[in-house]
Amino acid sequence: MHTARKWRDELNIGIGLIDNQHKIIFDLINDLGNASEAMADKKVIDTLFDVIENYVFRHFEAEEELIAPHAGALEHTLEHYTLFKEFKKLRLSFRNRISVDNAVHGFLEQWFVQHISQSDKPLFARIAQGGGTPTERGVDEYPQEQQERRRHKRIHQKKITDNTILASCYNASTLRNSQATLMDISLGGIRFESDKPHQRGDLLVIQCTIGRSFKMKEKVRIVNSHDQAYGAEFIGLSPATEKFLVELYGAVNIRNF
Ligand SMILES: [Fe+2]
Repeated sequence: MHTARKWRDELNIGIGLIDNQHKIIFDLINDLGNASEAMADKKVIDTLFDVIENYVFRHFEAEEELIAPHAGALEHTLEHYTLFKEFKKLRLSFRNRISVDNAVHGFLEQWFVQHISQSDKPLFARIAQGGGTPTERGVDEYPQEQQERRRHKRIHQKKITDNTILASCYNASTLRNSQATLMDISLGGIRFESDKPHQRGDLLVIQCTIGRSFKMKEKVRIVNSHDQAYGAEFIGLSPATEKFLVELYGAVNIRNF
């Protein structure tokens, strides 16, 4: 039996908007853990997952907007996306009917609290003291991703098929359609070239066929760009694409990646 974790004042970073959002997320995740523990109706738990997912996504956007002009913003954004992926894994366990109450409380401590105390606090303190100048990064630099496990490594287009993977792409931020050529893909996101320009932060709907028959339609957000090449993270990766990619990792030799 777990007791609900309590918000500790030392988790405050000193910016009211962010602190309030952190507290709300903290409470929501606690509610989810307690609901799962009390074996609440599946629909209740699923609704809580929905609420948390949407709120956390909006919170990360708010935070990323504040840190965008400062050094360390990209690394921090990547940490958010790792956190988001962990949360999605929890959700997948729940969909697979695995009891999630222990995992939810663990997520709260290991991921969420740790991120606030070890990343948010030092970053916002540095920004308050004058920050630093942002460094320009190329599209290939995913510092955290380098440390990720084998299954998160990218699969280059040529390892999947000899044909070019063409995707139709709808930019929900500019409301424009364009064509994209996928260069590689991982569980985290895609890298692609586009015939139209996009901005960092733009939300895109990407639609394509990978290999012989897998039809993918996913939402992504641009995290970096270089010339006409873009790095984008998946937003709410569908279970079908996740399954396809996990199977694909097992099917190709990625020792040389
Ligand atoms: Fe953060």
